[in-house]
Amino acid sequence: MMPDPAAAGSHVFYRKLTRQYRRIVRAEGCYLLDDTGRRYFDACGGAFTVSLGHGVAEIAGAIGDQARTLAYVNGTAFTHGAVEELAAELARVSPGDLELVYPLGSGSEAVEAALKLARQYWVEVGRGAKHTVVALAPSYHGNTLLALSASARPHYSALFGEWLVEVVRAPAPYAYRCECGGTPPYCPACSGDAVEAAIVRAGPDTVAAVIAEPVGGSSTGAAVPQPEYWRRVREICDRYDVLLVADEVLTGAGRTGTWSALEPYGIVPDIMTLGKGIAGGYVPLSAVVTSRRVAEPLARGSGALAHAQTFSHHPVLCAAGVATLRYLRERRLVERCAEMGRVLHRRLAELRDLPLVGDVRGRGLLAGIEFVADTETREPLPRSARFAEHFTDAALEEGLVVWPNVGHADGRNGDLVMLAPPFIVTEDQLDEMLDLWTRALRRAADRVGATK
Ligand SMILES: Cc1ncc(COP(=O)(O)O)c(C=O)c1O
Repeated sequence: MMPDPAAAGSHVFYRKLTRQYRRIVRAEGCYLLDDTGRRYFDACGGAFTVSLGHGVAEIAGAIGDQARTLAYVNGTAFTHGAVEELAAELARVSPGDLELVYPLGSGSEAVEAALKLARQYWVEVGRGAKHTVVALAPSYHGNTLLALSASARPHYSALFGEWLVEVVRAPAPYAYRCECGGTPPYCPACSGDAVEAAIVRAGPDTVAAVIAEPVGGSSTGAAVPQPEYWRRVREICDRYDVLLVADEVLTGAGRTGTWSALEPYGIVPDIMTLGKGIAGGYVPLSAVVTSRRVAEPLARGSGALAHAQTFSHHPVLCAAGVATLRYLRERRLVERCAEMGRVLHRRLAELRDLPLVGDVRGRGLLAGIEFVADTETREPLPRSARFAEHFTDAALEEGLVVWPNVGHADGRNGDLVMLAPPFIVTEDQLDEMLDLWTRALRRAADRVGATK
């Protein structure tokens, strides 16, 4: 039942209109504190954003200093120190020839701009027929209409089908639910052949870009492709003259234990999107990162990326990004994420024997735990059981915040939860987190009357 907002005294149009929200008043490190004094372990960094931990004075200070010095100028008229520094910092850590940075606010905005850049590139080099986007399924790239078109998450797009553009699909390398189970000989989804088939199906002369998450986000529960996958996709994109857009909004900025999740595969995309963790959750900051090779045809041609937003290149957002990148570097937090990630995944492996746990996977401090009705057949729980939702509620009752996802098994069924604690998490805190997690599982399993 919808609470009466007037009776509740609130005018907030809440994200969930039937939920009674707990009110968070403060946060520090890995913990949130509500107005009753209850503490919660933020095991998913809010939405994979809080990588440095809550309450870092250096980031708050940098934001305040920038706001006092120069809060806003428009990117069409001026440049400024914060954007120059952010671009230089990101160029330093980005792979290969990726060195030009276009800052925006949200991940969805970065995906919109990245896909527009890919399209515009082909127009500027005289190949205007190249407009089609190839994207994986399941996948998530954001909620604005082009980003939503690229996303394969049916329940988000159900109302808006008429407004979305057609995107050609290839199955994602999601080993737990594919034909080969992630072991050789690989099925087309896991080998990358499915990406080639999608390009050929669309007609290579019409394909502008392949967009994909290098390691899955919540739509595949942190599925990690086999080691050769990305080299093969890079080779396919080169063969058919297609730009490769790596959507690192969730996986970038160190989350998987390397700056970008593509890094271990040794390939360089043409365009990369970043978001979430690049300002540690302190402000909404995202970025499109590309090479001079991709940007030069625009410079020689129309002279600008055909994408305009009031708050792109924003001084305060950029200053938060610069402070975050320095904080990560000076404290070696990406290396720490890799190290604590190894500890996390060792301990997560022990959860495999618990009731309803079908699979645990991920890399660095990013993990997905998929629940199933039958661990042998991998049959998902029926959607009517709402297990992911029950688990998330049970976790909150235990004092743990996790990120749920549903629908990945077949478009409707499928329950998983994601863990993505801040990089400052200690081994003892990982134990505490997994202890709370196990208690939440017991509670949720009792609630739906489920056993292994
Ligand atoms: C891979 C990926 N791309 C894009 C987005 C959209 O980012 P935002 O929610 O900041 O618009 C997300 C958000 O979860 C994401 O995971």
